[in-house]
Amino acid sequence: MRAVTARRDSGTARLSRFRSLILQEKLLTTSTREFEMMKTVTLLVASCALLLLALPVQAEEASVDLGRTLFNDPGLGASKNDKSCNTCHADGKGMEKADARADLAALINKCIKGPLQGEGISEDSVAMESLKLYIKSLAK
Ligand code: HEC
Repeated sequence: MRAVTARRDSGTARLSRFRSLILQEKLLTTSTREFEMMKTVTLLVASCALLLLALPVQAEEASVDLGRTLFNDPGLGASKNDKSCNTCHADGKGMEKADARADLAALINKCIKGPLQGEGISEDSVAMESLKLYIKSLAK
């Protein structure tokens, strides 16, 4: 009789261990699912934020005015000194024939990296397009 009770007890113990295992498993899957959901939500929020950040940049159009501003900006292209393009090319000095140069973007970056000690700017950026427009407007 004692043996039967003992066996039943160990059966119950095993059952409750089994139950707690199932419970644990359930908790684990729930938290994994929650984690996946959090990941998706975070990704969604991050992409929305990026989109919002990118919108004003995309909306900005290249213009002679922006080009003039950048031409006079000593911080252009992460410049490490206080020189701007206008320091050497005041009133369009040296820009007289620049509008005819096919490699204008490369020349602009050469002066950003050289005299301005900067890092150069992307050739298809609004900033580059604007600088080109401004420099072309200086041509004589
Ligand atoms: C320290 C003086 C200095 C600064 C600052 C400077 N440049 Fe120049 N730049 C020159 C000199 C000198 C030349 C001509 C020498 C050469 O052809 O390499 C030149 C040439 C150029 C040319 C080629 C013109 C042509 O028709 O061949 C362009 C375009 C130009 N610079 C644009 C810029 C822009 C844009 C900036 C600002 C990011 C700038 N430069 C800043 C000195 C400077």
